[in-house]
This record gives sequence, structure tokens and C-alpha cells, in this order.
Amino acid sequence: MRNIVKIAVVVIASFSLVSCFNKNKPNFQFMPNMYEPVSYETYGDYEVFPNRMEAMHPVEGTIPRGWQPYDYPNTTEGLELARTNLKNPLEVTEANLKAGSELYAIYCAVCHGDKGAGQGILVKREKFLGIPSYADAGRDITEGGVYHVQMFGLNSMGSYASQTNELERWQITQHVMNLKAALKGEPLLIPVAPAAVETMVAEEVGQPAGNSEEH
Ligand code: HEC
Repeated sequence: MRNIVKIAVVVIASFSLVSCFNKNKPNFQFMPNMYEPVSYETYGDYEVFPNRMEAMHPVEGTIPRGWQPYDYPNTTEGLELARTNLKNPLEVTEANLKAGSELYAIYCAVCHGDKGAGQGILVKREKFLGIPSYADAGRDITEGGVYHVQMFGLNSMGSYASQTNELERWQITQHVMNLKAALKGEPLLIPVAPAAVETMVAEEVGQPAGNSEEH
């Protein structure tokens, strides 16, 4: 009889302990100092900060390091303006063309195809339709336009502004212009001779040409 009472007490006690457990709340902390830092937690909610946010908004007009503001609006007129006015600031070099070709293979070829004729793997498998060829006469694709659609996307094509940086988008653009030229049988971009590039780099760092060690 005594045993039954003891067992009952243990069972009830365990139930009452377990039943209050709420999975959505942090468990009981025996030594909170071990868990909670003295400093403010990143993204924490504290009264001392404006809007109670530890991570405050950047000052208005701030831009991330390496980001250049892009002034052409995401509209049909913006695309037209970019098509005519925006020019590729990059020098045509072997390195830029190579990088452009590699990035193109990663981001664009699935739809546009290796040759830019609109025959990517997704088109061949009929997963995605309506991909134009870069040589499409009606489109008159220019370097500014290629950059613009990478920034904003165009209808069912998405934006690549978060996957690539400015340099990479211009490198891709160089490659796309080459694909267009090849499709149309026009002359390709001619890379600046490597020797000339070395001279340019050397001039920038104030060293005589030919001395390319330890830049
Ligand atoms: C998911 C498939 C897809 C991918 C990936 C894709 N595109 Fe497109 N792209 C399209 C479609 C669809 C259009 C036609 C959009 C329209 O005109 O409605 C298009 C149109 C274009 C055009 C023509 C724009 C014009 O001026 O008419 C260019 C240039 C272009 N893409 C470049 C790229 C580049 C560069 C990449 C890689 C960074 C890329 N695309 C990745 C689907 C894609």
C-alpha cells in the first residue's frame, strides 16, 4: 500500500514537471550568464535604440562598399536609354573575356544557350520558352541593354544584380556581345595585347613596365 502511494506521488510529480514544458519557449536556464552576453545581441530588441533595433538602418544615401548607384530606371524607357547611352567601361582583355564566358556559363547558358542562340538546356527540355537569340534583328542588342537586363531582368527573365557584382556584369556583357557578333558573322572583340595591359597596370602603380613582381 505504501509503495503504491510512493509510485503515485512520483508519477504525479513527473507529470506536473513535464506537462508545463512549452517547446516554443526557451528552456529553463540554470545559469543564464552562460547564455546571455553582457553586450547587446546583434539584431536584438533593446529600448535604448531608436525603434528598439540594435542593428540600425544605414544613414540615408549610404551605399554598400563596391556598389555603384545605377541611374537608369527599371522601365521600358530606362531600357531604351541604357541601350543607346550606357557603355561598357571595361577594357577588352583576355582575362575579362574569359571571366565573362565562365560567368555566362554559370548564370545565362541554361536559358540562352552556350552560343546565345536561345537554345539553352531548359529550352531544349521545354521547361522555358520565349528565349530570344542575341542576333534577333528586332531587338538590336547593345552592351548597355545587356547590362540593364542583368540589373533588372526583363519579363520572365530575372535580375542578376544580387548574384553578380558590377565588374562581373560587364564581363558577362563583353561575352554576350561576342556571342552576338559570332551569330551574325561579324568580327569579334579584339583583346588588348597582354603587353599593353602590363604597361597599364605598371603605370597605375607607378612602376616601370616589365617589372611585374609584387604588385
Ligand atoms: C530563366 C531563363 C533566363 C536566364 C537564366 C537568363 N535569361 Fe536573358 N532572357 C530570358 C528571356 C525569357 C528573355 C526575353 C524577355 C522578353 O523580352 O520578354 C531574355 C532576354 C534577354 C536579353 C535581351 C534583352 C533585350 O534588350 O531585348 C538579353 C541581352 C539577355 N536576356 C541576357 C541575359 C544574360 C546576360 C543572362 C545571364 C546573366 C541571362 N539573360 C539569363 C530568359 C533568361
